[in-house]
Amino acid sequence: MAVKQHRMKQGRQAKTSKHNNSFVGASAVAQALSLKPAPGNAVLSRAVYYTMHFFRRPISMQLILAPMQGLIDDVMRDLLTRIGGFDECVSEFVRITHTVHSRPTWLKYAPEMANRNLTPAGVPCTVQLLGSDAANMAVNALEAVRFGAGKIDLNFGCPAPTVNKHKGGAVLLNEPELIYHIVCTLRERLPAHIPLTAKMRLGFEDKTRAIECAQAIAEGGACGLTVHARTKTEGYEPPAHWEWIRKIRNSVSVPVTANGDVFTLQDYLDITTVSGCTSVMLGRGAVMRPDLARQIKQYGQNGSAQEADFTEIAGWIRLFFDLCTAKAAGSKYPVARLKQWLGMMKHVYPQAGEWFSRIRTLKETAEVKQALETLGRGSRPPACG
Ligand SMILES: Cc1cc2nc3c(=O)[nH]c(=O)nc-3n(C[C@H](O)[C@H](O)[C@H](O)COP(=O)(O)O)c2cc1C
Repeated sequence: MAVKQHRMKQGRQAKTSKHNNSFVGASAVAQALSLKPAPGNAVLSRAVYYTMHFFRRPISMQLILAPMQGLIDDVMRDLLTRIGGFDECVSEFVRITHTVHSRPTWLKYAPEMANRNLTPAGVPCTVQLLGSDAANMAVNALEAVRFGAGKIDLNFGCPAPTVNKHKGGAVLLNEPELIYHIVCTLRERLPAHIPLTAKMRLGFEDKTRAIECAQAIAEGGACGLTVHARTKTEGYEPPAHWEWIRKIRNSVSVPVTANGDVFTLQDYLDITTVSGCTSVMLGRGAVMRPDLARQIKQYGQNGSAQEADFTEIAGWIRLFFDLCTAKAAGSKYPVARLKQWLGMMKHVYPQAGEWFSRIRTLKETAEVKQALETLGRGSRPPACG
């Protein structure tokens, strides 16, 4: 296999890039986030009962909160893991080029590293790296571990043109040999007790090398693999090809996590059935429907799930804004993040749309805070721990 032949060529390194994460443009983010839920993902009734599916639910489900650059940062991870249901979360990718990141940089992406890699609610957070210079990625991974990281994930799926142009993310899916080399190098250099995992798409332009890439990751020494079931060219266009996750799962010896287009409990049941995976990663669905993981976990335990009502959600919105303000008071961050979130939630909750309209023209933190005072009074924010 090409991957194995590549063992001989391990000295050859890919060129590095001098750019960092900021090159993932806002337009790409907006494009991915503007996706409306697929038909059938309309607002569910408050109490949903999926009795028919109860007896085929996965025995030991694992729910992972997706890494999402510019969307699921530490504040969103804090909020969503407080709400419940998640077993693990992953940081936004940390771009590795020619430098070695300092402690403040690592903590910027994953402040959980200073808290035993746990969100305030106690959910473990994995640090994700993106790059193609295996040697420098290994040096950086070791630094991350020195500063507290307990698990490293590698990104082989980012579709951003600037990242791909500099040989990072999904473009590496054209070079399974290089993927193997990167995984192998990191596995060799990292301490044995630090788990190494990877996340991939199905390919760059087509799926012809999907299995080869997955095997490169597994044979390189990763102990787990997440598959976002689309190629780079497919972007975020529905549908995600869940049947490919099963093919990959059948051809590698490591546990596979299924990812792509899980917006509802029913989608979760469908992706587990089609892919055969008991581990599922939730991205946009968890942001649009912040209790999605909690619903899935409830269903797994009881065979029924209770959806949050908007009074409860209103409490989360206020808490989110307070957490954003605590992180970056005096900046545009709290208002921008709140608008971004409401803009996504309005696809599921009409009330979020009304709130979005109410604050759309507001710019100052204080005026938004005042507007939020009237929202969800009396609802209790989720506790930590
Ligand atoms: C705005 C945005 C940012 C993303 N950032 C990352 C990232 O930093 N690392 C990564 O591996 N995947 C990233 N992804 C991909 C998601 O983790 C996930 O694979 C994808 O959104 C499909 O899952 P979903 O349908 O549940 O959202 C990003 C996706 C979006 C829309």
